[in-house]
Amino acid sequence: MSDVVTLERQGAIAVVRVNNPPVNALGIAVREGLQNSFQAAEADPEVKAIVLVCEGSTFMAGADIKEFGKPPKSPGLPEVVNGIEAGNKPSVAVIHGTALGGGLEVAVSCHYRIALKSAKVGLPEVKLGLLPGAGGTQRLPRLVGVQKALDMIVSGNPIGATEAQELGVIDELIEGDLTAAGIAYAQRLIDEGKGARRTGERTDKLDGVDNAALVEAKRAEIEKKMPGLFSPQRCISAVEASFTLPLEQGLKRERELFAECLVSPQRGALVHAFFTERLASKIDDLPKDTPTREINAAGVIGGGTMGVGIAMCFANAGIPVKILEISEDAKSKAMQRCRDTYMMSVKRGSLTEDAMNKRLALIEGVIDYADLSSVDLVVEAVFEDMGVKQKVFEALDKHCKPGAILASNTSSLDLNQIAEFTQRPQDVVGLHFFSPANVMRLLEVVRGEKTAKDVLATAMAIGKKLKKVAVPVGVCDGFVGNRMVFQYGREAEFLLEEGATPAQVDGALRKFGMAMGPFAMRDLSGLDIGLSIRTRQRETLPAEYTLPTILDRMAEAGMLGQKTGRGFYLYEAGSRTPLDNPALPAILEAASKEQGVERRQLSDEYILERTLFALINEGAKILEEGIAQRASDIDVIYINGYGFPAHQGGPMFYADSLGLDQVYARISAFHKEHGAWWKPAPLLEKLAREGRKFADL
Ligand code: 3HC
Ligand code: NAI
Repeated sequence: MSDVVTLERQGAIAVVRVNNPPVNALGIAVREGLQNSFQAAEADPEVKAIVLVCEGSTFMAGADIKEFGKPPKSPGLPEVVNGIEAGNKPSVAVIHGTALGGGLEVAVSCHYRIALKSAKVGLPEVKLGLLPGAGGTQRLPRLVGVQKALDMIVSGNPIGATEAQELGVIDELIEGDLTAAGIAYAQRLIDEGKGARRTGERTDKLDGVDNAALVEAKRAEIEKKMPGLFSPQRCISAVEASFTLPLEQGLKRERELFAECLVSPQRGALVHAFFTERLASKIDDLPKDTPTREINAAGVIGGGTMGVGIAMCFANAGIPVKILEISEDAKSKAMQRCRDTYMMSVKRGSLTEDAMNKRLALIEGVIDYADLSSVDLVVEAVFEDMGVKQKVFEALDKHCKPGAILASNTSSLDLNQIAEFTQRPQDVVGLHFFSPANVMRLLEVVRGEKTAKDVLATAMAIGKKLKKVAVPVGVCDGFVGNRMVFQYGREAEFLLEEGATPAQVDGALRKFGMAMGPFAMRDLSGLDIGLSIRTRQRETLPAEYTLPTILDRMAEAGMLGQKTGRGFYLYEAGSRTPLDNPALPAILEAASKEQGVERRQLSDEYILERTLFALINEGAKILEEGIAQRASDIDVIYINGYGFPAHQGGPMFYADSLGLDQVYARISAFHKEHGAWWKPAPLLEKLAREGRKFADL
C-alpha cells in the first residue's frame, strides 16, 4: 500500500483513507493506492462494506492538474473509478470540503455518498479547458438527469450538499466525525442487506425526457455565450453520449473528447491561469512564515464610488468597518449607497434580506477621525488629489493607533510620497481595488519603498480574506494594470483615426475573447476620465509622444458615454445596449483629417496586433523595472481586472505562445511606422534574440 492511501479494517468494514495534502489530488500515488485498497477490500472475505474517507480540509479536489501534459501513468483515473463501481461490496464515499472533478467522479463511482452539510460537489473541468474524463459526463446525468448535468458540467460551478442531496447525488447529510459517520452508514447498509448500487447501471433519470432537445438548447446557448471556447461544446457532446450510447461506449466517447481537450492550446492557457493565480500570492523576498498583523476592524476614508464598495468588501468578510466622510450629509449618502447596492443583490436573489441586514450592521458612518482610533486597517479612497490625500494621511497618522495599517486606494499618485505624509511610512501600503470594488476580484497590493514586510504580508492576507486575487506591484504611474491599459486604449483610439470604427475594434477584441471592447468600456466609465488623463499627459509628455484627439472631439460634442446617452455608441433611455451612433462617422472623419491621416480598411488581425502588442511591450518594460515580480503576475492582473480571456492565458502568456521573435518583429515595425510609443522594450528584444520566453525568466 502507498503512504497516501491506507486501508484498515474495523470489524466487517474496510476504511480506505486518502491523505495527500493539500487537497488530496488524484496523482498517480493516490490512484494506485485507491485501486490496490479497493481490490484488497473486495478480496478480503471478512469485509462486507467499504468506506472511503479523506484527511485534511477536503475530500479529493480532482485529478492532479500538474500531471496534465506529461506522459500518462497507469492506472488512469477511468480505470480506477470503473473498478470501484464494479465492486460487489457496497462502498460509501464520505465527503467534506469539496469533491471536485475527478474527486466527484470517484465519489459517484462509489455506491453511496454521504456528506457534511458544508460540503460542495462539482465538475469544474471546463474551467481548465477540459471535460470530466473519468465517467463524470456519463454518471452524473444518470444521477441527476441531463438538464442538471449539462448545467453543472458546462458551467463548472459546484453545488452545496443540501442541493446535491435533493438532486440525488448525496444520499444523506451527516455531522461530526467523518470516519464514524461513514462506518455507521456502512453498518446500516450491511444490516439492511443493501448491496452494491451502481450509478452506471441506472437509466431512470434518462428515460421519458426529450434529452436531445435539452442538448440542442444548450448547444445554442453556449454558441451564443462562449463562441470561442473549445471545451464547453465538447462537454455537451460527452453528456449527449450518456443517453445515446450504452455506458461502455459512452465512456469511450468521453475519453476521446477528453483527449481532444487535453491537447487544445486553451487547456494550456487555462491551467496556466489556475496555477499563476495561486503563484501571485507568493512574494520572493517574503518568507512564508512572515508574521501578519491582526485585522479585526477596518476604516475607509471617503464614501464615494470606491469607498462604499471597499467597505462592503470588509462587511461581506464579516469585518466591522467605519466609513469616514466630510459631513453628516455625505455620510448619510454613503450609507444609503451601501443599502442601495445590497438591495440590488437582494432583488436579484443573490442575497437574502437577513444577510443584507447583518452586513449593513457591520458598516458605520462617521465624520470624526477620533472614531478610527481603534481600527487595525484604514483604506483611504478620497478624491485623486495629492493635497487632499496629504490632509487625510496626516490626520490618520495623528489619530490611528500604533501598528495600524494605513492604505491608499490611489490609482495613479505616488505612494512613496503619500507614505511620507506620516511619521510611519513603514505602515503605509497601497490597496488598489477595481470598480465596482465589491464585485471585481483583482486587488493590486502596492509595495512602497518603506512598506514593512509584515504590512505587505498582512495586505496580501487581507486580500485573500476579502476573496480577492491579490497581486503585489511596485510604485509607478498606473501601477501594472492601468499603466498597460493606457497603451492599449491609446492605440485603439489611433485605430479609429486611421480608419476603424468602434464596433470593428470592439468586435475584433471580443472575438479574441475580451469581456468588453475598449470603446464600450470607455462609454461605461465615462470619456471624461480618459480625457483628463490625456490632458495631463499633453502637458508633461515630450513632443514625440503624440496623442489621439478623438476623445477631445467627442467631449466637445457632449458625447461622454452612457451617462450622456451618447458616446462611441448610442444608448436609449434606461438601456445599456450599445447602438450605432449616427453622429460618429463625421467625428471620425474630422479626427482623421485633423491628424492628417488617410482613412483605410484595417483587418481584425491588425487591430489585435496594434492593441495587444502595445500591452505586451509595456508589460515587458514593467517586468524589467521590477514593478511586477513575474510575467505571470501580469497575466493574473489582466485576467482578473481587465477582462482578458483566461483561455488566452493573459497578455504575456499570449506573447510567449505567439513567439517573442514574431512579437518583437511586429513591434519594431510599428516603431518605424508610428514612432516613439512603440520603442521595443529592451527585455523583449533580448528574449527574442535569445529565443526565450517571458515564462523562462
Ligand atoms: N491538482 C494539483 N494541485 C492542486 C489541485 C489539483 N487538482 N487543486 C489545488 N491544488 C493546489 C493549488 O495549486 C495550491 O497549491 P500551492 O499551495 O502550491 O499554491 C494548493 O493546492 C491549495 O489550493 P488553493 O490555494 O486553491 O486552496 P483553496 O483552499 O483556496 O481551494 C480548492 C481549494 C477549492 C480545491 C481549489 O484548489 C480548486 O478549485 N482546485 C481545483 C479543482 C479542480 O479544478 N478540479 C478538477 C481537476 S481536473 C480533473 O479532475 C479531470 C478529471 O475529470 C479526469
Ligand atoms: P468619488 O469622487 O466617487 O468619491 C470620493 C469621496 O471621498 C467622496 O464621497 C468625497 O465626499 C470623499 N472625500 C473627499 N475628501 C475627503 C476627506 N478629506 N475626508 C473624507 N472623505 C473625503 O471618487 P472614487 O471614484 O471613489 O475614487 C476614490 C479614490 O479611488 C481615488 O483615489 C481614485 O483614484 C481611486 N480609484 C478609483 C477607481 C474608480 O474606478 N473610480 C478605481 C480604483 C481606484
